Amino acid sequence: MSGMPLAPLPPAGEDRPLRVSMVCSGNICRSPMAEVILRHLLDEAGVAGVEVESCGIGGWHVGDGADPRTVTMLRRHGYDGSAHRASQFDPRSFADLDLVLAADRGHLRALQRAAGSEADRAKVRLLREFDPQAVAAGTLEVDDPWYGGTADFERCLLEVEAACRGLLDVLVAQPVAPTRPAQRAE
Ligand code: 4NP
Repeated sequence: MSGMPLAPLPPAGEDRPLRVSMVCSGNICRSPMAEVILRHLLDEAGVAGVEVESCGIGGWHVGDGADPRTVTMLRRHGYDGSAHRASQFDPRSFADLDLVLAADRGHLRALQRAAGSEADRAKVRLLREFDPQAVAAGTLEVDDPWYGGTADFERCLLEVEAACRGLLDVLVAQPVAPTRPAQRAE
């Protein structure tokens, strides 16, 4: 089994996709990487029925593109982050989301506080919970690369990519609803 079980994942409506939101502080580094990478992996695997978005706890960068270092690192690893525009998390969006994935424990706590019900709180997880190696190592946060350099952005991308691969494995192993077929196109 890759990643943690999605057991507490609240059932999405059967007539709509599974909706995943990636959350960090500013929505210009970590969560855009996660959004772009998970969407790319889903496309590559032919998995339909999962929608991915991202946002920040803070609103400082709303409307901005991803940090140029994020776009460069994504491109270097084969992903296109050029279309990203930053947005801020709105607690009202809990109603539309199934899985809200936090980059670090600060985001996790902020999201849990913003959740208006136990059902919404159960949607909030740390992204790296889906990376079995991170779980084994007990390193469940994606540290902020914002004040760092190229090596920090690369470390960030590799952590996010491993977690997205783990999440993809879970989504493929656990078809989420009859109308949201999760299957690989071989
Ligand atoms: P992110 O990185 O949360 O991974 O997008 C940050 C970007 C900007 C700021 C903090 C973190 N900021 O303070 O503006």
